[in-house]
Amino acid sequence: MSVKIISKTCTGPVNIAVIKYWGKRDEKLILPINASLSGTLDQQQLRAKTTVAASAGFTKDRMWLNGQEQSLDNPRLQNVLKEIRRRARKRKSGCEDDLDMLTWRVHICSENNFPTAAGLASSAAGLACLVFSLSKLFNVDGDISDIARQGSGSACRSVYGGFVEWEMGKEKDGSDSVARQVASENHWPEMRVLILVVSADKKHVGSTAGMQTSVKTSPLLKHRAEKIVPERMQAMIEAIQKKDFESFADLTMKDSNQFHSVCLDTYPPISYMTDISHKIVRMVHAINAHFKKSVLAYTFDAGPNACLYLLEDHVPLVLGFINHFFPYDVNNEQYIRGLLSEPQKPEQKLLNDIPINPQPVGALQYIIHTKVGPGPQLLEEEHSLLDVSGMPTSLINA
Ligand code: DP6
Repeated sequence: MSVKIISKTCTGPVNIAVIKYWGKRDEKLILPINASLSGTLDQQQLRAKTTVAASAGFTKDRMWLNGQEQSLDNPRLQNVLKEIRRRARKRKSGCEDDLDMLTWRVHICSENNFPTAAGLASSAAGLACLVFSLSKLFNVDGDISDIARQGSGSACRSVYGGFVEWEMGKEKDGSDSVARQVASENHWPEMRVLILVVSADKKHVGSTAGMQTSVKTSPLLKHRAEKIVPERMQAMIEAIQKKDFESFADLTMKDSNQFHSVCLDTYPPISYMTDISHKIVRMVHAINAHFKKSVLAYTFDAGPNACLYLLEDHVPLVLGFINHFFPYDVNNEQYIRGLLSEPQKPEQKLLNDIPINPQPVGALQYIIHTKVGPGPQLLEEEHSLLDVSGMPTSLINA
């Protein structure tokens, strides 16, 4: 007789911060030195998908990521698993089967629908999706953002859709350092996002290590966390609530610039933005100058890719500008991915007025056109990434 396997399959979104998280006050619990705020992106274009299964027949916890087995011997993952089980036990939710289940080992299988190497926030999507899937498996209800936070700080914001705030909290145990939805994905349906994937071969400092050095050495980060972010958070929440795009855009760009200034203020300095990233910044300001107001906002995380927030109406013309300054190989049918929109070529006179030289073909790898979307989703069993014996349905041999 085969041993019973219980499983759940879910998807989880990427989020892109407009007020950045950078710096921890507690490394183990992952408690930040400032609040942050992000937009959750639509899972049609970017998502992690995870199946978690539990069975009395499994001999140990195992995990496969994008087709390859990974070690679970990682303190963050262990904390997440421990916390889910602790909460399930505490809530005594469900039937006896559930309590039994808490002693069973788990198999985890996860994959992204976008290249991990593209340097997009894949860990946030992956960790949020894992915690959400485990919460469904073990019948843990209520807020789970504090558990996702212990997997990777920014992952706590991917637990909700729309615009999400991560409150820094004051408690030592981290119980009040949780994510909260500021506005749902339906509040500002015109909001669009263009991700400009910048070609980069250089390895950069990972965010965990980078922020540690910044906390130790950057006086600007201290000032930012104490003075700038609290004011900016308030203004940002107000801009979102009022759907005031100009304020939203100005705050987003200023916060990205300050985050990268903190990186340069770190000793030794960290630089994530490349020459191409800086050219994108100049292009965005030139477009905004043309419109005589901010219609486009850039933000950069711990890498060279640009994430542009804009309203639907401006997408065709902005794509036209991007195609002019960052031309692409016409044979590359995959250059613009995601939502459909026909680029509109700007008038030549306008282009001549902008003092930026068009870049060689290939400066950008591709563009993802997406929008703000909902939080993690539970899928039907047929979407499982694990087969009836609890092994991945597709494996890549190492
Ligand atoms: C620049 O959440 O990846 O994207 O908590 O150490 O896992 P850990 O760091 P992580 O940091 C993300 C930093 C950021 C800004 C942001 O998303 O707010």
